[in-house]
Amino acid sequence: MFAKTDLLAPDAILGLTKLSATDKREEKIDLGVGVYRTEDGATPVMGAVDLAERAVIKKQTTKAYTPAEGAPGFCEAILKLVFGPDSEQVASGRTIAVQSPGGCGALRLAGELLARNEAAGISAGAPTWANHKPLLAAAGLDVHMIPYYDVKTSMIDFDGFLASVKKLGPTDVLLLHGACHNPTGADLSHEQIDAVIDIAAERGFLPLIDTAYHGFATDLETDAYIVREMTRRLPEVLITYSCSKNFGLYRERTGAIIFAGRNPEQAAAVQSHIINIARASYSMPPAHGGAIVSEILHSPELTQIWRDELTTMNQAMRNSRKLLVDAARESGLGNQLSYITEQNGMFSLLPMTIEDVTVMREEFAIYIVGAGRINLCGVHGGNVGYLVQSLNQVLNR
Ligand code: LMR
Repeated sequence: MFAKTDLLAPDAILGLTKLSATDKREEKIDLGVGVYRTEDGATPVMGAVDLAERAVIKKQTTKAYTPAEGAPGFCEAILKLVFGPDSEQVASGRTIAVQSPGGCGALRLAGELLARNEAAGISAGAPTWANHKPLLAAAGLDVHMIPYYDVKTSMIDFDGFLASVKKLGPTDVLLLHGACHNPTGADLSHEQIDAVIDIAAERGFLPLIDTAYHGFATDLETDAYIVREMTRRLPEVLITYSCSKNFGLYRERTGAIIFAGRNPEQAAAVQSHIINIARASYSMPPAHGGAIVSEILHSPELTQIWRDELTTMNQAMRNSRKLLVDAARESGLGNQLSYITEQNGMFSLLPMTIEDVTVMREEFAIYIVGAGRINLCGVHGGNVGYLVQSLNQVLNR
């Protein structure tokens, strides 16, 4: 069976993490995988998560199967978090959620659901997260890249993006990022989102909003604008949600697929298909992460602790952005990187080629994803000098 099986190249992001772990050079800087890190390079369990986990273990009486929708209370809590406490979308019953194994699991469910409903294809703005295309293609979708970000200007090419979006029709899907675009950090403004909604309303395509960094751009309410506004104004919207970053639950594989439809009957029908797809794959999601999220969101005290921690993480990422831009300015790079303070979340894209990235890794022990994506969490006072010095040499060769 496997006599001719060839060895595949490592994953662009996870392979880099593995490579970095074996690099013992003292000056090493890991700006790779999208994991929040403190200044000492740690990714601690969030305080609210730790408290909730203890409470969950204490209350636990069984390991029997959970419902197919997910850990008890999880979906209801996530919907309230995403749409706000008194939303029409949730109160009307036209919006459903199903817990998934992480954001990847939610995307895979979305992909299979779309393929099952004969979506003509899914369009994604370039560049997008390295796993979007393989994941959605593996679910049976044709993935088309359309313009989004201009690497020459380090800005969104909104005219190019809109021109492609205007060509989409009722059997097409448009992949959008919730706040904190991966890999560029360049988010659509609220006005730009409104313009995309106007076109979606006219052309009838379906938005799929991949939300992996809720709360990492501004705050939980502002970051939800794209989801809340699209589901308020459009008849059908799919959302994939990850709790990996904002709850720090990476390895617990906790996420959700959310569908906001026309009415409760349609929502229930779509939910039945999602559950059916999951049943034919992994049956039901792992319960532990969902139970932790549910515990936090059902406790006002834990929710407050969690929100405060999110604010602290958010501030730390903003500080790293400023630190890098200021150091770059002083190092002779001038304003080449000044756009970075205008962007959101963990990532920004440096103006480099794949060859530059290789030089940064091999000669300077600096780990960068793809053609220049950096995780700002890896930048701090202790390494920013070496980072900008190295960048200066590579970018201005
Ligand atoms: C990333 O983009 O680095 C993260 O979302 C981790 C992953 O699975 O790729």
